Amino acid sequence: MTHLRTRAVHAGQHPDPGTGAIATPISQTTAFGYGTLEHGAAIFAGEAPGYRYSRFANPTVAALEAKMADLEGAQAAVAFSSGTAATSSVLLGLLNPGDEIAFLGPLYGGTEGLFRAVGERFGIRVVDATQQGLAASLTPATRMVWVETLTNPSLRLHDLAEVAAIAKARGVLTVADNTFCTPCLVRPLAYGIDLAMHSMTKYLGGHGDATGGIVAGSVALIAPVRKTGLGHVGGNLSPQEAFLFLRGIKTLPLRMAAHCEGAAAVAHFLAGHPAVRVVHYPGLASHPQHALARRLLQGGFGGMVAFELVRNERSAAAAVLNRLQLFTQAVSLGDVDSLACHPASTTHSFVTAAVRAQNGVTEGLIRLSVGIEHPDDLMADLEHALRHAV
Ligand SMILES: Cc1ncc(COP(=O)(O)O)c(C=O)c1O
Repeated sequence: MTHLRTRAVHAGQHPDPGTGAIATPISQTTAFGYGTLEHGAAIFAGEAPGYRYSRFANPTVAALEAKMADLEGAQAAVAFSSGTAATSSVLLGLLNPGDEIAFLGPLYGGTEGLFRAVGERFGIRVVDATQQGLAASLTPATRMVWVETLTNPSLRLHDLAEVAAIAKARGVLTVADNTFCTPCLVRPLAYGIDLAMHSMTKYLGGHGDATGGIVAGSVALIAPVRKTGLGHVGGNLSPQEAFLFLRGIKTLPLRMAAHCEGAAAVAHFLAGHPAVRVVHYPGLASHPQHALARRLLQGGFGGMVAFELVRNERSAAAAVLNRLQLFTQAVSLGDVDSLACHPASTTHSFVTAAVRAQNGVTEGLIRLSVGIEHPDDLMADLEHALRHAV
């Protein structure tokens, strides 16, 4: 199985040995009978394989973990009830009081909020390395570096090989949040990053109907994340949700190709529209990191597009957004349905005006999560709405 499309369908899954069922059964159970006291003791001691309690491990969830480990080129993976539960489990599983975590921003606001609201309260120092650069920001106390493979909403990238090399030279762990790219576009571990993390809620599920997170990496790193995040914190993914992710991931490469095709068409259309001042899309030659994007992202530039109106005001953004018919106004992303949002009043409404300015979140900025509808219909919807922006 060399091709991602084949692995997305088959990895981690096989017909059920008992019934022959091709779809992985939903093992909707809290506990697993172990037969004899001796066998139970052996399972609990880690001397015999077997499931015991679904908070620790569950067959449906295990199939999803095996599939995602395969797609990310990792030895192991552990799934959680949300992307945020995955992030907090990495933090609590691998960091100690006195450690520093450095990040290259901008980060998803919830991630930075978690670092600061929880990490700092438990003695972890949070360092924003964005301005100063990574090498200059690392100290002897730095234990982890956090980046996103494609950032929100300005769609910037980081040179993952460079990030990994700088961190490795100092013995620092690296984590890449790969939510926006998925393993279809980039596999962070191939660049030397230690852990790839996802909000599966987005492209991996793909249908806007399940919340989950996952972390993939070496057995040595995944083991403490699993022990803390599941055993101690209890952030396990339900088997029902795991089934939805298993089903969603089977079509991930096909969906990502359609997202990328639609987003590229929409980005080019917007770039030529007189009501639009700037389009953020790594596939455009005008994107400041287009060359890096071409090098890093394989098979497309993602499904997210952000654009700023010439009339850079909230009323202009409202005039456009309130007239869209195919794009639904909502946060989240990665669904088969196209979504649109006004970051300044939604995703970025809780951060300071200075942070909004630093991240290019102006009142006239609109973010699109381009779905898998036909690009012509999406462009017609935007064309109609944009008539009201000038
Ligand atoms: C890049 C990124 N990482 C992590 C998360 C958190 O994921 P969840 O909402 O599944 O907890 C999000 C949510 O929007 C996100 O966009």
